[in-house]
Amino acid sequence: MIELGHTTKTHDESRQGEALELLPTGKSTGRKLYIESYGCQMNFSDSEIVASILVDNGFETTKDYKEADVVFINTCSIRENAEQRVRNRLKEFESAKAKNPGMIVGVLGCMAERLKAKFLEEEKLVDVVVGPDAYRDLPNLIDQVDDGAKAVNVLLSREETYADINPVRLNSNGISAFISIMRGCDNMCSFCVVPFTRGRERSRDPHSIVKEAQELFDAGYREVTLLGQNVDSYKYSPIVKEGEESLPVVNFAQLLALVAEVSPEMRVRFSTSHPKDITDEVLHMIANYENICKYIHLPVQSGNSRVLELMNRTYDREWYMERIDAIRRIIPDCAISTDIITGFCSETEEEHAETLSIMDYVKYDFAYMFAYSERPGTLAAKRYEDDVPEDVKKRRLTEVVNKQQEHSLYRLQDYVGKIHKVLIEGYSKRSDADYCGRNDQNSMVVFPVDERFKPGEYTNVLVERCTSATLIGRIVH
Ligand code: 5AD
Ligand code: SF4
Repeated sequence: MIELGHTTKTHDESRQGEALELLPTGKSTGRKLYIESYGCQMNFSDSEIVASILVDNGFETTKDYKEADVVFINTCSIRENAEQRVRNRLKEFESAKAKNPGMIVGVLGCMAERLKAKFLEEEKLVDVVVGPDAYRDLPNLIDQVDDGAKAVNVLLSREETYADINPVRLNSNGISAFISIMRGCDNMCSFCVVPFTRGRERSRDPHSIVKEAQELFDAGYREVTLLGQNVDSYKYSPIVKEGEESLPVVNFAQLLALVAEVSPEMRVRFSTSHPKDITDEVLHMIANYENICKYIHLPVQSGNSRVLELMNRTYDREWYMERIDAIRRIIPDCAISTDIITGFCSETEEEHAETLSIMDYVKYDFAYMFAYSERPGTLAAKRYEDDVPEDVKKRRLTEVVNKQQEHSLYRLQDYVGKIHKVLIEGYSKRSDADYCGRNDQNSMVVFPVDERFKPGEYTNVLVERCTSATLIGRIVH
């Protein structure tokens, strides 16, 4: 499997399958919850909402599924191998359940709708299946299972944003946190299951977002990442009751400013941007605020206009390149990362070469790269033949991966010899003698511990050298 680039925050491989742990806030039932998450950052953020709902209902959490009363797996459907991993994991839970027949096993998230019948009835792997918009119903669904029934709620909602639920920050470093600002997606990219698994796009009330950011800051956090499938189409229109004055609509640029105003000491990041929707207004807002990080994840998917049209991305090669030019013009020091799919239906060698050439044009700091995998129910599955042979998809992927490695190194080398403002996240994975943290552009920086600085503080680091993924340096005053 060649799926590289999973080291930044949207698909952080190091966190896949991570479990969460905390104590109940309500009256304890003595029951233990184990929850494991796969897929995108939105899923990890959702697990924090699920944990919050159940902790309020008397559960405590555990990191060991063998001692849990309720075992949940928050699933991802984006590519076939993501689904396969979940299925394997469910088989492992099956043997734990055989030893502990009272154990409830549940599937949450993106696989729920599509595979509910299979999981519940055919394979009898699980007791409860819950879709991403039905988490408030979990206590009730668990009751149903306690009463001997199987329980399902996969209804998608046009309104649910969980705005009032305070996610519990689990396994967090206490310094950076994610804030979900919208749910669902209306874009219908032809390869993508998200519009089917997560439903229609809806934006969360900006007041609840700013309140969450403020509370995080007050609790010592120094970085928030605003999450949505397409943050640039964030739009909140307040519901106005009769006789009340109408309030202005809030767009993404304005939301960024509202969150940035919480404190100049708190960094603001966001993901994911869509090339068709990212406006100059957003770019100027990033440039205007020192604490809005100069880093944009702008998935290109393909560098060829015909393939982009088949993908229903609603922009072409020229439009994408113009947006890149705008970023470079308005935010000259901005890092840019991307997502790329190789071997989409009917993609030719010449068209693939255009993906390589757009990579040369942008020289991305970072990329997530995938071979196309057909997803049932998507527009592409219905309309187009998945006709690029597997070995060709993989070979094209290798070419893309190799090129990206060159570009990542090129970008990191450009940082060598310069001073970077780094938010210290903690000790480096390799050694307690080193701190690690990120610069504005989201690159990981490692440097020797200086006791005068603590995690959660900013420091200036002179970068002296780099590896293929990390900057190495020392604190300077
Ligand atoms: N096959 C391969 N990659 C996909 N992605 C989404 N759907 C598919 C698919 N069917 C990739 C896209 C998207 C990222 C989150 O996952 O590049 O931006
Ligand atoms: Fe999927 Fe496209 Fe929406 Fe991203 S923008 S979630 S790729 S449909």
